[in-house]
Amino acid sequence: MADVKLVHVWKEFDGVVAVKDMTLEVKDGEFMILLGPSGCGKTTTLRMIAGLEEPTRGQIYIGDQLVADPQKGIFVPPKDRDIAMVFQSYALYPHMTVYDNIAFPLKLRKVPKNEIDQRVKEVAELLGLTELLKRKPRELSGGQRQRVALGRAIIRKPKVFLMDEPLSNLDAKLRVKMRAELKKLQRQLGVTTIYVTHDQVEAMTMGDRIAVINHGILQQVGTPEDVYDKPANTFVAGFIGTPPMNFMEATISEEGFADFGDFRLKLLPEQIGVLREGNLIGRDVIFGIRPEDIYDAMFAQVKVPGENMVRATVEIIENLGSEKIVHLRVGDVTFLGSFRAESKVKEGQEVDVVFDMRKIHIFKKDSGEAVL
Ligand SMILES: Nc1ncnc2c1ncn2[C@@H]1O[C@H](COP(=O)(O)OP(=O)(O)O)[C@@H](O)[C@H]1O
Ligand SMILES: [Mg+2]
Repeated sequence: MADVKLVHVWKEFDGVVAVKDMTLEVKDGEFMILLGPSGCGKTTTLRMIAGLEEPTRGQIYIGDQLVADPQKGIFVPPKDRDIAMVFQSYALYPHMTVYDNIAFPLKLRKVPKNEIDQRVKEVAELLGLTELLKRKPRELSGGQRQRVALGRAIIRKPKVFLMDEPLSNLDAKLRVKMRAELKKLQRQLGVTTIYVTHDQVEAMTMGDRIAVINHGILQQVGTPEDVYDKPANTFVAGFIGTPPMNFMEATISEEGFADFGDFRLKLLPEQIGVLREGNLIGRDVIFGIRPEDIYDAMFAQVKVPGENMVRATVEIIENLGSEKIVHLRVGDVTFLGSFRAESKVKEGQEVDVVFDMRKIHIFKKDSGEAVL
């Protein structure tokens, strides 16, 4: 096992900067997620850790070993890094049985036969593949194949697992099941794992911590709670959570309201204090609130008209069974509320909605940086 450290790592492909000044520490035994939209540099980051790409600048450490530093001419090849990778396309050897596929990395390393046999059986047991060891890949379901690929990765007991969207070829139901299985497996093995995904639900449910990346730049690193409750900027706030956080343009008034033009909401004293310190009184900001923090007034505890409550028009309702996603409008301002299933709202009606003012976010208008 080992921790992994990137220090001011850059990667440029003739003209394209894929990774910009990335500094990230993954702790020993940690399950770290690299999360971001397609093209943001996740795979490139993972490939640099694996040794499949050389950084343009910066240092990469695995444990105490400096494995890449172009300035010093240091580059440790993949085979000497003691890492195992699992990709989206889990290319198994089609002519080999499950047993031989899993055993392959040990055979390559000339491990004695009886030890291979013992390890394959252990791994198969762990992954629920014991009954399938004699089968060929074509006789397996997608989920079973992915488990074989995992088996092949874990049998070596590497220092670090690197996984690049390993579940994205599976159907939705299986993905949910494999998510939980992978997480359990990682806990059991305790091996440092860096897992790439563009799926924020995967990231939230599996990661000890999440590193959110956009345009090759690390936006925030934190636990799922951190990035959800205290997003560092509008990108993180908008990328994590479904339906996404509402963003509304507002002006912070002298009297301590967020003023949207068509209505206003009273900020809490401590929030006003922070905004005053940030010189944001009288300024335009971006006001953020998650749909689940907007309530049908019928079910709200604290409601004060003109302070945290406003009458809105219900434009569309998406009934998810467990909740209702309600598209609301006040004048020109639109936002989503996630109401409980018992809410009796109807499309076209007016409804009093309550904002949980403890849960709001304020972002600077120019940079998108979070102030609250
Ligand atoms: N071998 C390469 N040559 C040129 N550009 C590349 C290469 N690999 C990746 N890129 C570019 O680097 C950026 C990041 O790509 P990638 O790391 O694959 O993103 P992600 O995995 O987050 O989707 C993209 O703009 C991509 O086109
Ligand atoms: Mg990728």
